[in-house]
Amino acid sequence: MCATTRIFNQQLLVEEEPSVCLAGGDREKKESTHRLLAQRDRDDKPHVNMSLLGRLERPIRTINYSNAKILAPMVRICSLPFRYAAKQCGADIVYSEELIDKKLLQCERTVNEETQMVEYRQLNHLTSHPVYRTSPVIEDRPLVLQIGTANVDLAVQVAEKMFPDYDAIDVNCGCPKHFSVHSGMGAKLLSDNQENMIRILNGLVKSVGGSQGKSVTCKIRLLSTVEATKDLVRRVEQTGVNAIAIHARYIPQRPRERAHLPLLSELREVVQIPLIANGDCFRHEDIALIREQTACDAVMIARGAIWNPAIFSSDERMRQEWSNPHVRALKLLQIFEDLKASMNQTRYVIQRTYCDESGDGPFLVNLNRSTTFEQMRSRIQAQMLLKPFRKGATVLSDNHQFA
Ligand SMILES: Cc1cc2nc3c(=O)[nH]c(=O)nc-3n(C[C@H](O)[C@H](O)[C@H](O)COP(=O)(O)O)c2cc1C
Repeated sequence: MCATTRIFNQQLLVEEEPSVCLAGGDREKKESTHRLLAQRDRDDKPHVNMSLLGRLERPIRTINYSNAKILAPMVRICSLPFRYAAKQCGADIVYSEELIDKKLLQCERTVNEETQMVEYRQLNHLTSHPVYRTSPVIEDRPLVLQIGTANVDLAVQVAEKMFPDYDAIDVNCGCPKHFSVHSGMGAKLLSDNQENMIRILNGLVKSVGGSQGKSVTCKIRLLSTVEATKDLVRRVEQTGVNAIAIHARYIPQRPRERAHLPLLSELREVVQIPLIANGDCFRHEDIALIREQTACDAVMIARGAIWNPAIFSSDERMRQEWSNPHVRALKLLQIFEDLKASMNQTRYVIQRTYCDESGDGPFLVNLNRSTTFEQMRSRIQAQMLLKPFRKGATVLSDNHQFA
């Protein structure tokens, strides 16, 4: 059995009941359903209204945020293979990377005949790697699609167009990077244009939320005072969103500065909907501590998950195994290869998962020059022999500034 088939068969899940695994006859039925759906997609294109199709296929279900361990949205990291790895390691809910509304609207949706994956490719770049991929066959849900937007009409168009291919749609309202704020997205929605943010959330709730079956959420940062942040979360709750993720840093703060997690407990007092705490969760044990400290329903992890996706696992042996950076890199590499990731994506994620633990700077430079999966694998294996991982060598650092 080839590696790809192995991965696909490993995790064949019922679309409507995310935690149920199928086997034998059920599996065949499921596969033939997917073939039929894919065929129907092909036959009906380009006239088919995907949003209606999705509505018929998926019954309404709400996402359970209670005690959830969540993979945070991360640009260039949270494509299908990394989401898959995080799920395999025990994440309950996974986010996509942030995708910009206009780009998604330029994409065409197709179902890949070989893999049965749903792919969104930009019309003028049909041969390049898809902008967004998911697989009803292998991707365990719930899956949150995060969008960057500053326009309610565009946001609603994306939500409608992609209706069958996500469970929740999240608006990034915290990214402080120039590229986001200069076009009115991300943290700009929090600082100068809360009216617009509320308009976008209202629009999404009305079009795909509530009885339409999708969860609508947003990810924010702290405003400069607790009172201002309390007012904000109250306003957001009134739009009818299902949950709010709060990155416990102020807009100008950089990731290496500590998150203000204790402040989140004050927000908990003013809203009823689930709150998701985000910031500085680096060990599995931190998940329970952060939940306790913040009184939030769920914990969202970003850098801690890049550095070890097994942070989500309650199995200590699994966490130990994945904590060896070479073992981790090889495991991720296999998943990326099986799920047909691009080399660009793969190099980026593998390099970042090493954190500072490779024990050799030139090794990472060399690894980054790899042009095939095989080359990467043999370079990692060689490094493993040359410089086996020494426990305790981890240096957690990150100079990049994100949402
Ligand atoms: C590589 C990277 C990419 C990120 N991309 C996004 C993104 O696409 N959308 C978003 O809302 N936040 C993004 N963030 C921010 C994280 O989701 C998270 O809010 C932040 O890193 C704090 O969590 P942490 O302390 O667990 O890292 C990114 C962070 C990193 C490290």
